[in-house]
Amino acid sequence: MTRVFSGEVAGYYAKYRRGYPPQAIDALQETFGLGTDDVVLDLGCGTGQLALPLADRVRSVVGMDPEPDMLRLAADAAAEQGIGNATWILGGDRDIPALRTLLGRGSLALTVIGNAIHWMRHDELFGALVPLLRPGGGIAVVANGTPLWLQQNSWSPALRAGLERHFGTSLATSCGTLPQDRDQYRWALRAAGLGEVGETVVEYTDELTLEQIVGGVCSAVPADRLPAPADRPAFAEYLRGCLPAGRDTFTEHVRVAILTARA
Ligand SMILES: C[S@@+](CC[C@H](N)C(=O)[O-])C[C@H]1O[C@@H](n2cnc3c(N)ncnc32)[C@H](O)[C@@H]1O
Repeated sequence: MTRVFSGEVAGYYAKYRRGYPPQAIDALQETFGLGTDDVVLDLGCGTGQLALPLADRVRSVVGMDPEPDMLRLAADAAAEQGIGNATWILGGDRDIPALRTLLGRGSLALTVIGNAIHWMRHDELFGALVPLLRPGGGIAVVANGTPLWLQQNSWSPALRAGLERHFGTSLATSCGTLPQDRDQYRWALRAAGLGEVGETVVEYTDELTLEQIVGGVCSAVPADRLPAPADRPAFAEYLRGCLPAGRDTFTEHVRVAILTARA
């Protein structure tokens, strides 16, 4: 199996991928009534984008991910930020039944899945998570914006065309961010017996430099397709040439969609 997020890709992820705005973390805390007795699981935690800001709102966070390089960087970030209540577990969605034997029934206030649900068998997963949830706890499936090359703005289509030319592949996969993807998850959450299914949206606008766009692209390229270090300056120049000329920054409208359901 290719380790998509391994090695340098994990480094690009930690450095260039967006975290979540405080309003998104507030919305999670409010919806599930998170407090200092609670434990939260961040499944597909990557380098800790959700686990880290949630840590100081609850008793403990468990970050779980099948990619050791992502977990290592999450643990490094926790240490740098002085976070002492985060535990990092190597594993994926299929390990939830085993996690249940460790944590016990009703032990979790929330399982949060940020930009990672498209890697999982979501219907089986939601069913496996339900016994772990405390009353009033639940599941949040979070989409942190739209991939850089799929946005509707003045530069994203040109980036997509350039990337498709360079990698010789079609880049249509939405990574679970499109409304039709979200409908599937909504339906599966209900089918797993969860209720109060709802969505909170947080939107904001940001300016990206070329470095951030190149770094963001490199954080999403499978590790075995990342240009070699010596070729990366030329890759960056190539992307600059694909983007509209004469600009120092590129405006991104970020839409964070938080789909929630409660036990
Ligand atoms: C795009 S990253 C998301 C990281 C972070 N949650 C965020 O919000 O930015 C997707 C993560 O899902 C992980 N992943 C891939 N397959 C998985 C699986 N079957 N179960 C759990 N996580 C998985 C990857 O290793 C990667 O760290």
